[in-house]
Amino acid sequence: MKIISNPIELKNYLKTIDKTIGFIPTMGALHEGHLSLIKDAKKNNEFTIVSIFVNPTQFNADEDLDKYPRRDEADKKICKLAGIDILFFPNVNDIYSKDEVSIASPNIRGYVLEGFTRPSHFNGVLTVVNKLLNIVNPSRAYFGKKDAQQLNLISLMVKQLFMNVEIVAVNTVRDLDGLALSSRNIYLSKEERKKALNIPGSLNLASNLVKNGELNSLKIIDKMRESLKDLEIFYIEILDREFNQIKNIKLKNTIILVEVKIGNTRLLDNIWL
Ligand code: PAJ
Repeated sequence: MKIISNPIELKNYLKTIDKTIGFIPTMGALHEGHLSLIKDAKKNNEFTIVSIFVNPTQFNADEDLDKYPRRDEADKKICKLAGIDILFFPNVNDIYSKDEVSIASPNIRGYVLEGFTRPSHFNGVLTVVNKLLNIVNPSRAYFGKKDAQQLNLISLMVKQLFMNVEIVAVNTVRDLDGLALSSRNIYLSKEERKKALNIPGSLNLASNLVKNGELNSLKIIDKMRESLKDLEIFYIEILDREFNQIKNIKLKNTIILVEVKIGNTRLLDNIWL
């Protein structure tokens, strides 16, 4: 495994590689969720690249960028063991300069749900993902369904900017107790983690209601709200895959999304029906 931090060096190196490239952008603190993206990329491409970059522009001013977990050495080992070809590990100065061109997320879909409480978050995500895709120029790039809005906006960017990459959506990996894996889970105390299990609990409840024939979005949201009543709920939404609100569940075209805050930690989860 080669570790490269300079974008131009990586671009030049990749000129010598004539293979399909699978790319997994991450912010590190790697877990089984990231590994599942890596496995998928390895299976379907001849060459695999992971990037680790804690992107400052996607953190809002009141969010603690400095507290974001960093496990550089462990992450390098994980990538090596996973058999990736290149780990792209840039510094902030390798990616950003003082006066920057940036990508703006769409006025509607970028400012609802997570974008409502974190207004410039998706501008930062799209700007960095655009840069990373331009540096790596992969055949396919892998993103988790867990961050459904991020996945939707990145797919939109690739389509609207006519970019040459296939975006692959990967299923959410969960812990044995059902909690979706996230680099943020380490912030939870034992007590908070127990409370967090209500999140997958509420999504299972919704899924069971649908299995039993309930298709009305408002009724499902009401029952979910009840099951999450001990938590600070940011939103519970039922949307189609294009992120439009829907009054009734449309099977194979629905995402139920939840975001809550437990202590100081925001947790996202969703199910695709
Ligand atoms: P990060 O949170 O490190 O996540 C990297 C990728 O792993 C994302 O595509 C995310 O959706 C996916 N992922 C996280 N947890 C997962 C889980 N439990 N199951 C499956 N996939 C999971 O998302 C980011 O970084 C950043 O915003 C980034 C896209 C790298 C831009 O900075």
